[in-house]
Amino acid sequence: MGTKIVAINTYLPEKIITNQQLENDFKRWDSEKIEAKLGIRNRHVVKDDETALDLAYNASLKTIKEYDKNKIDFVILCTQSPDYFLPSGACILQNKLGLRTNIGAFDFNLGCSGYIYGLAIAKGLINNNLANSILLIMSETYSKHIHKKDLANLTIFGDGAASTIIEKSENEHILEFVFGTDGSGFENLIVKNGAFRKKYDPNAPQISDNSGNIWTDNNLFMNGPEIFNFTIEKVPKLVDEILNKNEMTLNDIDFIIFHQANKYIIEYLRRKINIPKEKFYSNMLDTGNTVSVTIPLALEYSINNKIIKRGDKVLLCGFGVGYSWGATIIKF
Ligand SMILES: CC(C)(COP(=O)(O)OP(=O)(O)OC[C@H]1O[C@@H](n2cnc3c(N)ncnc32)[C@H](O)[C@@H]1OP(=O)(O)O)[C@@H](O)C(=O)NCCC(=O)NCCS
Repeated sequence: MGTKIVAINTYLPEKIITNQQLENDFKRWDSEKIEAKLGIRNRHVVKDDETALDLAYNASLKTIKEYDKNKIDFVILCTQSPDYFLPSGACILQNKLGLRTNIGAFDFNLGCSGYIYGLAIAKGLINNNLANSILLIMSETYSKHIHKKDLANLTIFGDGAASTIIEKSENEHILEFVFGTDGSGFENLIVKNGAFRKKYDPNAPQISDNSGNIWTDNNLFMNGPEIFNFTIEKVPKLVDEILNKNEMTLNDIDFIIFHQANKYIIEYLRRKINIPKEKFYSNMLDTGNTVSVTIPLALEYSINNKIIKRGDKVLLCGFGVGYSWGATIIKF
């Protein structure tokens, strides 16, 4: 027995911020320059009264239109922009989606590695006979964390949600995993204020960098170059480790999907690891970096467009905030 992914559906909020709008508002980087550097032209963002739970609900609605919701016996939500400190958003979703009450539900807090961890948790629950059918939801609204004058982050991040069903199956389709954590880098991608270490401060002083980005400790702070350094050190090793653990080489892999952080960094990684272009997914043009949602977005697109076909082996790799990273191989 084993586990497999049987459905992936995504939902993006309607509001779009274009490079042209950012060029007009900031007059610093023109729209072509942003697209050339990041591979991003548009990003979807929530309205003020729209939340990660709304996006999660809309992505899950698509799933239960095509999948018998009475089969679902666990709901797992990954987000770093929750509606409430408590309760878990997954509990609220159980009720909103009209799922059975004799099921499990919980949230977990991870960013760009979240989808890998979610698949691992789902596999573990199913293979230990704790569940048969899991609704795994990634939902993120980093736009709520970003300061309105922080162009560097406004250009990179977008909001969105993805819902995935993982089911018990005759054979194992979700192969071995590798995980990594290095909390020494936690301050390089962080929202400092708002929880209990440092409460939200309405008078938090503005901070700025040499390029003119402005934020406060209530907002998302990203040290881009440090995240870049961490990534180029860890991800090539991670690819080696996941291939070794599954006793495969790059030749055995049909397709590779990295967390779509931005084109600049993932193209650098592709060249460093020597991954052929035709095996490598790179598309965040109209979504931006949607954090834990980028990998299921890429999977949904690649499956719908027959880039991934039945039987293909697909290497997934997530990395970022924490620092946290992970990889697995899926046999479709
Ligand atoms: C954020 C990142 C793209 C910035 O690139 P960088 O080359 O390190 O940026 P620098 O600040 O040294 O800027 C170099 C030049 O690149 C250009 N640039 C930087 N960020 C840009 C952006 N968002 N859009 C367009 N051009 C950009 C600018 O020309 C800049 O010079 P200028 O501001 O003087 O005009 C890069 O550090 C990175 O990819 N880091 C990883 C971050 C990440 O992906 N995090 C997601 C979570 S995993």
